[in-house]
Amino acid sequence: MKRRILVTGPTGFVGARIMDAMEAIPCPSLREMNESRVRELVEQMTPDVIIHTAALSDIGQCQKMPEVSYHANVEIPLWLVRTGVRTVIFSSDQVYSGLAEPGPYTEQQVRPANLYAEHKLEMEQRCLEAAPDTVLLRAAWMYDMPRYGCRNRGNFLVNMLRQEEIAFSSTQIRSVTYVREVAALMEKALTLPGGVYNFGSETTLPMLEIARWLADTLRLRIRIKDAGPRHDLAMDTGRLKKFGAAFSTVQEGLLQCIQDYSLQEN
Ligand SMILES: NC(=O)c1ccc[n+]([C@@H]2O[C@H](COP(=O)([O-])OP(=O)(O)OC[C@H]3O[C@@H](n4cnc5c(N)ncnc54)[C@H](OP(=O)(O)O)[C@@H]3O)[C@@H](O)[C@H]2O)c1
Repeated sequence: MKRRILVTGPTGFVGARIMDAMEAIPCPSLREMNESRVRELVEQMTPDVIIHTAALSDIGQCQKMPEVSYHANVEIPLWLVRTGVRTVIFSSDQVYSGLAEPGPYTEQQVRPANLYAEHKLEMEQRCLEAAPDTVLLRAAWMYDMPRYGCRNRGNFLVNMLRQEEIAFSSTQIRSVTYVREVAALMEKALTLPGGVYNFGSETTLPMLEIARWLADTLRLRIRIKDAGPRHDLAMDTGRLKKFGAAFSTVQEGLLQCIQDYSLQEN
């Protein structure tokens, strides 16, 4: 029998791409809900598994509205896992944002430097305590071209295409990731044992070099400046690889996206 996969945040940046990639049921918004309402909803929808993408994902908004962030980023995911349905939850590479040592970071080396990251880390720990089979995916900064019918915030690729001038660090290594690759790996994510996984592309190149390479590849007339030193946000995905799932490198992911959208002039 076919599994019933419930996706929260189905019109969000990641959720919409997951809905494109797999047969799944869109979950109504959980924004104003308390625990009993969440439980009632899950009982009504009878999923076999939940993919939870809904969150308050803007770091600045979380800082300004700590209660809203706590509700969205800690309580709602916790209430979902407490329903007893196996849940795959998106977390963030921001849990590494306060680490002084250079990356790539393994899942153990956490130090959050903002409230969003603190809430994500608390969420991971409490969800695993409540339901050890929960899968927590630490996602990196993801990109795609704008999608019809979705709110389109800036992302690495779109910013590079839209802006005349941009700054990236010549020291920061970051796991910038193609969101459609994330969506394509969700089937695999559903089979992972409970625990925390770095879930994004690897690279050894700093952001400034990646940006310059992308500008050359797409022949963009963008001025790229050095933003100065920034801490790394690079993930070591060795744990994920042990379970047979692997991402392309950052450059391979960008090339795939360029090909998918025919962005390169012939
Ligand atoms: N985008 C990235 O580059 C990135 C990087 C690292 C990690 N992540 C994580 O990946 C997941 C998906 O990110 P995303 O970029 O797809 O997020 P998003 O587009 O900003 O938001 C996803 C959905 O969350 C729901 N939502 C928004 N505010 C909420 C609130 N206050 N309470 C409850 N739900 C709320 C909305 O769905 P409804 O309209 O249905 O309520 C929204 O469509 C999140 O956990 C995020 O933290 C994202």
